[in-house]
Amino acid sequence: MTHIKKYLIGNWKMYKTLQESIDFIKELSRLLEKIDTKGLTIGIAPPFVHLSAIANLLEGKQPIQLIAQNCHHEVEGAFTGEVSAHMLAAIGVQGVLIGHSERRIFEKENGVFLAKKITRVLASGMQPLLCCGERLEDRNNGNHEAVVREQLTTTLSSITPDERANVTIAYEPVWAIGTGAVASLTAVKEMHSFIKAMMLEQYGARNIPILYGGSCNPKNAKGIFECPNVAGGLIGSASLAANSFMELVKLLV
Ligand code: PGA
Repeated sequence: MTHIKKYLIGNWKMYKTLQESIDFIKELSRLLEKIDTKGLTIGIAPPFVHLSAIANLLEGKQPIQLIAQNCHHEVEGAFTGEVSAHMLAAIGVQGVLIGHSERRIFEKENGVFLAKKITRVLASGMQPLLCCGERLEDRNNGNHEAVVREQLTTTLSSITPDERANVTIAYEPVWAIGTGAVASLTAVKEMHSFIKAMMLEQYGARNIPILYGGSCNPKNAKGIFECPNVAGGLIGSASLAANSFMELVKLLV
């Protein structure tokens, strides 16, 4: 069996001032000194404005990777208010979240456009983390698999096989994000095995890591992380305090 590396990524969304971010990183670094995190990729995705300061703090020496929450799909240009993949890579960002459901919903991001972002992120030497997940009405109508298939294929069919091989996926049911309504272990198992089978059938891709996200916290994460085909978690609320994030780290090392 091929060993798939584990991942724990904290998505801070639009939370934390610069000082709060610095305090968190210092505290987490101190906590991480006590354990061996080999085999686990730990990432933190702060708001854009804090990336540079946190990169300086980490100096690439800590076992914490710096992740961006988004980037623009063009190389550069007259796009007021936007940030390019190249700019992120140049300050030491190592990965970028692509198509988080909050961006799909509020910014109307769609699949083909997300494929362009993945291309930019990989061309700049960073790791794309493609998010997918159905809404509650899709699940209630029995359309959850079809919706996730559609989200993944519109993006993944628009990039090259080499690019595809370097994508990480995060399955995050929209109804579980920030709601406290975590998916049942049965639903997690079913969806992760569905995505895994789909990736193999459609693209011949065997080893794409699939993370779970959506109200994952130290109380419910053990069962989720132990599910087959779950390569770790994408964590919102429970990543905002160093202690709770650290408890999640401990479940994966
Ligand atoms: P949550 O957010 O853990 O607060 O539900 C997860 C996410 O949006 O990635």
